[in-house]
Amino acid sequence: RTQQALIRESWRRVSCSPVQNGVVLFSRLFDLDPDLLPLFQYNCKRFASPQECLAAPEFLDHIRKVMLVIDAAVSHLEDLSCLEEYLCNLGKKHQAVGVKVESFSTVGESLLYMLEKCLGAAFSPDVKEAWIKLYSAVVKAMQGGWEV
Ligand code: HEM
Repeated sequence: RTQQALIRESWRRVSCSPVQNGVVLFSRLFDLDPDLLPLFQYNCKRFASPQECLAAPEFLDHIRKVMLVIDAAVSHLEDLSCLEEYLCNLGKKHQAVGVKVESFSTVGESLLYMLEKCLGAAFSPDVKEAWIKLYSAVVKAMQGGWEV
């Protein structure tokens, strides 16, 4: 099967429970880099712990937003360039809230972790490779929004 088919099939399973899987992704992210937690503030209020953050409705909305962006990328595998402008803008917004480009590699690791947890044995080396490729393309487009 093609890389595109592998992505679509695996994403179908992940997107059945987007919030649940998104929580797995972000729990891993906060384990790997606890300094990302204070970047999430709603009404200027910092979360006291990852647990508190992962239970907040506004944060769960951010998880839904992340999953929707990945969903859009999966739907436009043949032509990611039509998302370029949107992703570039999204990169700008993340720079504005204090995200560093380097953090997107930790997000990538957490994405692969979540995929492995969700897909189990179906997370083959080919599936992994296909996701690394897609995620790199998304990050590359978001990096276009970074001003140095
Ligand atoms: C918005 C932080 C990764 C997609 C935001 C906001 C914050 C934030 C603070 C504004 C508040 C909110 O909307 O909840 C972060 C951090 C990340 C991260 C710290 C990891 C280091 C991602 C990723 C994606 C994403 C990987 C998708 C690929 C979005 C979207 C919005 C958003 C779609 C809404 C933008 C808008 O209002 O137009 N993010 N984010 N985020 N984030 Fe993230």
